[in-house]
Amino acid sequence: MRFFNTYPPHIVHKVQYTSRYNRLTAIATLGSHCALQVLKGAKDEGLKTILVCEKKREKLYRRFSFIDELILVDSFSAILEQKYQSILEQNNAVLIPHGTLIAQMSSEQIESIKIPIFGNKWILRWESDRIMKEKLMREAKLPIPKSVKDAKDIDNLVIVKRQGAAGGKGYFLAANKEDYNKKREHLISQGVIGKDETLYIQEYVAGVLAYLQYFYSPLNEELEFFGADQRHESDIEGIARIQSEYQLKSTKVPSFNVIGNSPIVLRESLLDEVYAMGDNFVEAAKKLVSPGMNGPFCIEGVYDENAKFTSFEFSARIVAGTNIYMDGSPYYSLLFNEPMSMGKRIAREIKNAEKINQLDKITT
Ligand SMILES: Nc1ncnc2c1ncn2[C@@H]1O[C@H](COP(=O)(O)OP(=O)(O)O)[C@@H](O)[C@H]1O
Ligand SMILES: [Mg+2]
Repeated sequence: MRFFNTYPPHIVHKVQYTSRYNRLTAIATLGSHCALQVLKGAKDEGLKTILVCEKKREKLYRRFSFIDELILVDSFSAILEQKYQSILEQNNAVLIPHGTLIAQMSSEQIESIKIPIFGNKWILRWESDRIMKEKLMREAKLPIPKSVKDAKDIDNLVIVKRQGAAGGKGYFLAANKEDYNKKREHLISQGVIGKDETLYIQEYVAGVLAYLQYFYSPLNEELEFFGADQRHESDIEGIARIQSEYQLKSTKVPSFNVIGNSPIVLRESLLDEVYAMGDNFVEAAKKLVSPGMNGPFCIEGVYDENAKFTSFEFSARIVAGTNIYMDGSPYYSLLFNEPMSMGKRIAREIKNAEKINQLDKITT
């Protein structure tokens, strides 16, 4: 039982503080997405904080005194350069991956990063590639919407997506092949999507959206449910606010570009299934992508009118939806007797691993 403990008990009781603990790791991340939360959490845990910051955002991030060091770059891909990797290495830094890393770098680039990455960097490829993603979700026995191989087979409402964590930009709905072609061409002409881009077509599922946020600790082999959020996506949300007569006149293709997040608390009777899905996902990841789904992840989907969940995708790292719980989430207040954000939980895991000399177990 871990209730009202701040450390997994078997770690606290068994561990002797080693000298290595005095040489604490620094936490580094890219300046975007959930960087503030991650670095504040790290600072609260007494770790050094480093932000890889695009020059154009320097002014923003200088406002926050918990950021110890800014590494200023023209673009995030600079961290692939030896010069910057050396700085991070000298600082004993662990890089916390988030959506921006995935959106702005290829899987090959991410995998080539030399410094330790928190969690499993190999699983990020499974997040970026929609076909691999589907495979892992099937292995996890998640109920998933039907995918459509060819636009000519669209016979129901579908959502058309891009690869990677595109943040919903350029995604569109289509009811049949003609509709698909018309919208695709429109978006190509506007430069929103590329002419040769491989799009992924998936059955549209209507219902209440819920993004389920978890943390799996390989140190104590336990799955934690952190919380759930909803995304506010523009301008699909905007279109719902106008009368149908104006919707019908609109020629714009609405997008699913995420603008922000808000909390949702699930009916307690749904929690058992939430844990089961998380457990299954962790099991499947262990099987398909060694060393498995370590650290934070998110299962994203829709509850229908019978409270049946269908999952349309997952994120294999911290999601920005955890930003709503910087002071701790409702479910973590049941597990920890202190305010615990996801950023702080990550830093806590790193400290726990360091104490028992097992940083290798939680990084790749
Ligand atoms: N099958 C689906 N049914 C209904 N809505 C969906 C479906 N798939 C995606 N969406 C909507 O589109 C958004 C973006 O899709 P998602 O697969 O999460 O892509 P991304 O990797 O860019 O986050 C979701 O947050 C949700 O609002
Ligand atoms: Mg998503």
